[in-house]
Amino acid sequence: MGYEMILIKSLKRMEARKLGLALLVGFCVGVVACFISMTVSTAKQQLSNLPYVVNASPVAESSNYSQRSGRGHGAEGSNPSSDGATRTNQTSSSTRDDALSGGQTKGSNLESEGDKKTEARQPSKNQKEEIIESKQPEGDKKTEASQPNKNQKEEVNESKQPDGPRISKSTKSRTKAACDLSNPRTDVCDMEGDVRIHGKSASVVLVTDRRPRNSGRTKSWRIKPYARKFDKAAMAHVHEVSVRVSNGLGGIPACSTNHSDPAIVFALGGYTGNYYHDFTDVLIPLFITSRRFDGEVQFVIETTNLWWISKYEQILRSLSRHEIIFFNNDDRVHCYRRVVVGLHSHKALSIDPTRAPNGYSMVDFTKLMRVAYSLERDSPIRPGGAGAKKPRLLLISRQGSRRFTNLGEIVRTAEELDLEVVVTEAKMGSNVADIARVVNSCDVMMGVHGAGLTNFVFLPTNAVVIQIVPFGKLEDISRACFGYPSQDAGLHYLEYSVSEEESSLTELYPRDHAVFRDPKSIHRLGWIKMGEVYLDKQNVKLDVDRFRPLLLKARQLLHQ
Ligand SMILES: *[C@@H]1O[C@H](CO)[C@@H](O)[C@H](O)[C@H]1NC(C)=O
Ligand SMILES: *[C@@H]1O[C@H](CO)[C@@H](O)[C@H](O)[C@H]1NC(C)=O
Ligand SMILES: *[C@@H]1O[C@H](CO)[C@@H](O)[C@H](O)[C@H]1NC(C)=O
Ligand SMILES: *[C@@H]1O[C@H](CO)[C@@H](O)[C@H](O)[C@H]1NC(C)=O
Repeated sequence: MGYEMILIKSLKRMEARKLGLALLVGFCVGVVACFISMTVSTAKQQLSNLPYVVNASPVAESSNYSQRSGRGHGAEGSNPSSDGATRTNQTSSSTRDDALSGGQTKGSNLESEGDKKTEARQPSKNQKEEIIESKQPEGDKKTEASQPNKNQKEEVNESKQPDGPRISKSTKSRTKAACDLSNPRTDVCDMEGDVRIHGKSASVVLVTDRRPRNSGRTKSWRIKPYARKFDKAAMAHVHEVSVRVSNGLGGIPACSTNHSDPAIVFALGGYTGNYYHDFTDVLIPLFITSRRFDGEVQFVIETTNLWWISKYEQILRSLSRHEIIFFNNDDRVHCYRRVVVGLHSHKALSIDPTRAPNGYSMVDFTKLMRVAYSLERDSPIRPGGAGAKKPRLLLISRQGSRRFTNLGEIVRTAEELDLEVVVTEAKMGSNVADIARVVNSCDVMMGVHGAGLTNFVFLPTNAVVIQIVPFGKLEDISRACFGYPSQDAGLHYLEYSVSEEESSLTELYPRDHAVFRDPKSIHRLGWIKMGEVYLDKQNVKLDVDRFRPLLLKARQLLHQ
């Protein structure tokens, strides 16, 4: 259980100092921060339901998804494995209370928007064969001092070297390792050729037949394949994968299994388990990285986390038709013609089509969600049409903080505007598929800033998202987390800022307190303090008269 245990513990004692520092640094470089917190009760629940599986290396290439994550097959399978029944049980409970209501307590983290400066060159655009290509952040050249400039000499034209000392030339041989370490969100190595993965040693080796021209040194990187590189607190709980290029003169393991399709290696560490982070740190990056293979790709996961795999099984299955392989203690060597270590990532909960293969966008991601969960609706209702059905409003009600205290009044107001209101309760969403179905059946979704808004990914294109921004100058944060992402997904985005009078903070602080008079001074106290005041302690009583015009606008947007 070790790793998951560490994760949960770490979330509970997420050090305020580190986060505060990270926030400060973030603001200094103009980063917009995003506050999504981890539900501690969820974490505990997941912990109590975690299977004690440490070795579930599946049989290669059998392609039967239903059995792939349940049982251990590895020769080293000395640990007790979970069986299907256990998995089912812990799966349903692990998804129960976080998906709709979102996080609600202390642990917080940052979302960087500030990575525009570094544009990740797409390795695939490079027509040349290169043995090594490595992009480093500016000013971090020293670790790579000797190698990169040798690229020119290292280029190989196969026709010119017909009798080079090849090691394995059975298939078309294109040998390339391109590591991009320049993106502040993620490190990615893309390797083609004879690539071998050894789970037990967490290593990926590209075997080349190249003569060791330069002192025969092997080229190596250490990659944490979780797309949140800028966040030290998250990355402290992601294991490293060793990636190297070796000329085959020693220490090269023999292949136990050959795979014809490519592999993508990634980790489930960091903030895995928080609904928002599952999408922004893993699922969307995985989509960017894997979609172009159209299912003909195998996921190799550094962290065994079966409840997570089960929770998002439909999404994973829609991206890969192969079984998942876990690193574990797998002593076998899986060989591929192409391996990508790490996941591409562009921005918070979204995709930059100019940087994604095939121009993939958030609209494409939401289309895939519809396929994965068999969601029927691609577009919202057109009110007043022939069928004359009412548009449906999904009201996301949180359980802990940032709750609506006058839910009934809000519902009545919406019904007066001829909307059919669906109120989600945390317990309703026993799994993501259920949530997805409900969300997709709605035309407008509203909720107070929180992880539950991540559910916009299931809305039909052109539907409306209304984010209720709690009092306390939280507009920038809220917009970065859900405003821009929902717009990228082809949705209409509306924002409603809670006024002093609508905030429950008036019951906690006098009106002349800095909390009201000078919110920025509370922000300056640091991330944790700011979150305690404005996010953890605040509930919202919507002034329905003030809110009504916005709801009307949402309704009108459906006519467009
Ligand atoms: C997968 O295995 C299950 C149970 O063994 C079986 O019912 C199902 O038909 C299999 N599916 C495929 C695609 O082989
Ligand atoms: C699943 O959970 C329920 C309720 O917690 C329990 O009664 C049941 O025995 C569990 N099933 C398995 C297979 O563990
Ligand atoms: C590599 O080989 C191809 C095909 O024989 C040839 O057209 C090309 O000019 C060669 N490139 C270099 C750099 O020698
Ligand atoms: C994998 O492929 C290599 C090269 O084609 C071959 O030598 C080796 O025997 C294969 N291994 C297995 C287990 O099929």
